[in-house]
Amino acid sequence: MKVLIVDDEKNIQKILSDIITDNEWKPFVAGTTEEAEDILKREFIDVLLLDVFLEREREGLDFLQKIRTDYDFPPEVVIITGHGTIDMAIEAVKMGAYDLIEKPPSIERLTFAIKRAYEHIKNTRKRLYIKEDETPIIGNSAKLKKVMGIVKSVAPTDGSVLITGESGVGKELIAKSIHLNSKRKDGPFIIVNSAAIPADLVESELFGYEKGAFTNALKMKRGRFELADGGTLFLDEIGDMSLKTQSKILRALQDKKIERVGGEGTIKVDVRIIAATNKDIEKMTKEGKFREDLYYRLNVVRIHIDPLKERKEDIKPLFNYYVNKFSQDYGRMVKKIDSDVYKYILNEEWKGNIRELKNFAEKAVIFSKNDEISLSQLGLKFESLKEKFGSFSLAKKEFEKNYLEKALAANNFNISQTAKMLIMDKGNLFKKIKSLGIKIEDSKDSD
Ligand SMILES: Nc1ncnc2c1ncn2[C@@H]1O[C@H](COP(=O)(O)OP(=O)(O)OP(=O)(O)O)[C@@H](O)[C@H]1O
Ligand SMILES: [Mg+2]
Repeated sequence: MKVLIVDDEKNIQKILSDIITDNEWKPFVAGTTEEAEDILKREFIDVLLLDVFLEREREGLDFLQKIRTDYDFPPEVVIITGHGTIDMAIEAVKMGAYDLIEKPPSIERLTFAIKRAYEHIKNTRKRLYIKEDETPIIGNSAKLKKVMGIVKSVAPTDGSVLITGESGVGKELIAKSIHLNSKRKDGPFIIVNSAAIPADLVESELFGYEKGAFTNALKMKRGRFELADGGTLFLDEIGDMSLKTQSKILRALQDKKIERVGGEGTIKVDVRIIAATNKDIEKMTKEGKFREDLYYRLNVVRIHIDPLKERKEDIKPLFNYYVNKFSQDYGRMVKKIDSDVYKYILNEEWKGNIRELKNFAEKAVIFSKNDEISLSQLGLKFESLKEKFGSFSLAKKEFEKNYLEKALAANNFNISQTAKMLIMDKGNLFKKIKSLGIKIEDSKDSD
């Protein structure tokens, strides 16, 4: 957490700063609002400790107003006030400051206020963070266990990870799990979907812009790199990234700093990179569609997630988990799942992998009747592969019968003529006709 102290009294600065450091948070100190603005422009501050009475009487209040209008994701503000300025402090709270503390602040009171303000700002900036209980990883196949093993060993390091696998296998889920098992878990998890950003917006999306950088830039905007500061940046679908974007990202990774559009000077960013793709990225590298230098930078640790059909042991637990989850979501009671349902899901191909199985579970819950899930409610029928195909000899017989019936009909059921046409011995043809049970209604055979 980054805390900015804005106070013109040196001894107060020192006391506050020490308390922050003791809690292993990062303090920044400003004596004036101008200095404070310089810091706010460069750093992504979480909590601002603001003395209401600075040089000018209402300076603190004006400043409070300003950060709310000029900044993207402004910090949570805790007002620090002396006896004489209580009224102003109350006014500040009315303007949106989160809390107020009287000088001299007690360590406990201040620590508590900062913690609370941080929790609150995390909640306001909710989309930047993920909760630990949001995404359980279900399955106990050896293949998934191996993936989880790599997750466990790589998570605590800051090493880049490249996750590959078909669509819907859980690449994003694994990326989140790496983040949640890292020392950055209280920090943000920011997704860059490389395929979804229009080419002309790439720069402002990734690196942000300053107020006034162009006509519509009414307030400063932070880019994804900056939002991910102190946390993890998830570069999704990197196989769909243009070469131009690739070189911009590479530069930011090499320099560990970025520049906002229209900005003067660079901003240091501390991010951990996880990338993902369902494309054959090695092939793309060879074909010159993906920069080799960026590939090497991303592919420090590789995690490949196999498709669901290659880890069938995970199908049943995943289905049960999602049936349970959707039952709760939809307020349904599912007490029984027909055994054919399990046979069916184990035999499916699941080209869309877990996402498709999850959708199927949702549908099954929606169509469940009398607390039960069955295939007929879904308009499905279980056919084992054996049932689907039958045996080879049966299929061959069926073909022969069909074929000979047509050939005979074409020859007006004349066996000699048919045998001649098929270049076949007449005796053999006759035997076949009998063994296949073909009815010769009205043989015109004269001999
Ligand atoms: N092991 C798992 N346990 C529970 N849910 C899972 C598991 N794996 C994937 N899912 C769920 O399946 C869905 C698809 O997963 P995810 O989005 O992570 O896949 P992806 O590989 O990123 O897919 P895409 O390539 O299409 O982006 C998500 O809803 C995710 O929560
Ligand atoms: Mg994904």
